[in-house]
Amino acid sequence: MAARECTRCAELAATRTSVVFGAGNADAELMFVGEAPGANEDLQGLPFVGAAGKLLEQLLGEIGLSRAEVFIANVLKCRPPGNRDPQPVEIENCRPYLVRQIELIQPRVICTLGNFATKLLRGDPAGITRVHGQPEVRTIGEHTTRLYPLFHPAAALYTPSTLETLRADFVRLPGLLALAGPARPDAVPDPVAEPAPEPLHDSAPATQLGLF
Ligand code: URA
Repeated sequence: MAARECTRCAELAATRTSVVFGAGNADAELMFVGEAPGANEDLQGLPFVGAAGKLLEQLLGEIGLSRAEVFIANVLKCRPPGNRDPQPVEIENCRPYLVRQIELIQPRVICTLGNFATKLLRGDPAGITRVHGQPEVRTIGEHTTRLYPLFHPAAALYTPSTLETLRADFVRLPGLLALAGPARPDAVPDPVAEPAPEPLHDSAPATQLGLF
């Protein structure tokens, strides 16, 4: 699956500067999924490098986390021209890359930022205003995780009430991260085995990944 040379979306492939695959700690317990790269992200090849990214970093800092500890990706890996909305066919074309990222990183919690990521990963059309701040267990590809929908930080930049809601939802993240990793809903429990303690990923300096 070579995302860097991907031409599944002819228009995006023709207009992009870079494929913004994602960045951060490849062993992260916490992953964020945004919408799509914007102009700055397309130029730098990294996600969330603009004002929304700064706000995301600030909110992470407020709960004692740094950007280097988490992994950040998007629904689309290429910038839609003029920052238009991702099209359904583009979301479908790009979905295997995101699913594979989730399977490789195996995050304990995935924050979906805004409507596009939330609808895609929940597999449901309910909008972010209705479902933000409500964690739920979902299996994505081969990985079972907790999804935690949040307002997109770009939406919070100019709307103080949205920022307050986003901040209040953020405050609950450490508690979610402290929960044991969720079991697959279809897993058959072994009645004899002692439940093994959930191994925590080590918190050694984060492996920084650009594209992989
Ligand atoms: N908004 C997004 O959804 N993703 C980015 O990478 C930047 C801004």
